[in-house]
Amino acid sequence: MRKPIVAGNWKMNKTVAESRQLVAELVPGLQAVDSVERVLCPPFTSLMAVAAMLEGTEIRLGAQDMYWEASGAYTGEVSPLMVKELCQYVIIGHSERRTYFGETDETVNRKVKAALAHGLLPIMCVGETLAENEAGRTAEVVSRQMRAGLAGVELKDGKSLYIAYEPVWAIGTGRAATADGANKVIADVIRPALATLFNAQISQEVRVLYGGSVSGKNATDLFTMPDIDGALVGGASLKVEEFVPITRAAVK
Ligand code: PGA
Repeated sequence: MRKPIVAGNWKMNKTVAESRQLVAELVPGLQAVDSVERVLCPPFTSLMAVAAMLEGTEIRLGAQDMYWEASGAYTGEVSPLMVKELCQYVIIGHSERRTYFGETDETVNRKVKAALAHGLLPIMCVGETLAENEAGRTAEVVSRQMRAGLAGVELKDGKSLYIAYEPVWAIGTGRAATADGANKVIADVIRPALATLFNAQISQEVRVLYGGSVSGKNATDLFTMPDIDGALVGGASLKVEEFVPITRAAVK
């Protein structure tokens, strides 16, 4: 059985002071849900402060991105070694990175490999745009992102990789995919791609999250689907009264 996971992607929100306040409010509610992997992904500037607050809890920390080189003259970038000092997880290839910051399947691939090489747990994001969805190209696009993002990746087992299926049209729009629709993409495209790239066992072990307008209202529906193992939560992860119930809804 796959342990459910709920990860909060704070995006470019919260100063250090605001992060401390949010974490103080989140921790009691999140600590009570220990059958779910709980991950907070604040901005880089808040990682250290949040890491200190999470010490002694089972709540884990993730970065929202990183570069693939270990060190060097890459002004503005953050390396896997720096992330590894504070975090266990790293989100790779979020659609906002692809859309606004020029990330490609190839950069995503390098980052996934670097994360694994440094013992970080990558949460690799895939998902089609509205135009691709309407053109009936979802399976083609998602399977290309899977193949290219994971090209040449070697895994011992399925526990060291996470995939987030995030249809771009559902992110921040209040219009989540239906539970059935999201489950179908995961079952028909993402797990088969994992089986082809790795093997059948790994395809059943990898946790696949859904992301895109997850809320306290739709979480239960999404989490009852057999192939959805949790959520990558954006907007609602900044609200205690949403994020804690979403995490509770992930309990099997
Ligand atoms: P959202 O974002 O929950 O605000 O739609 C999800 C994400 O981008 O990971």
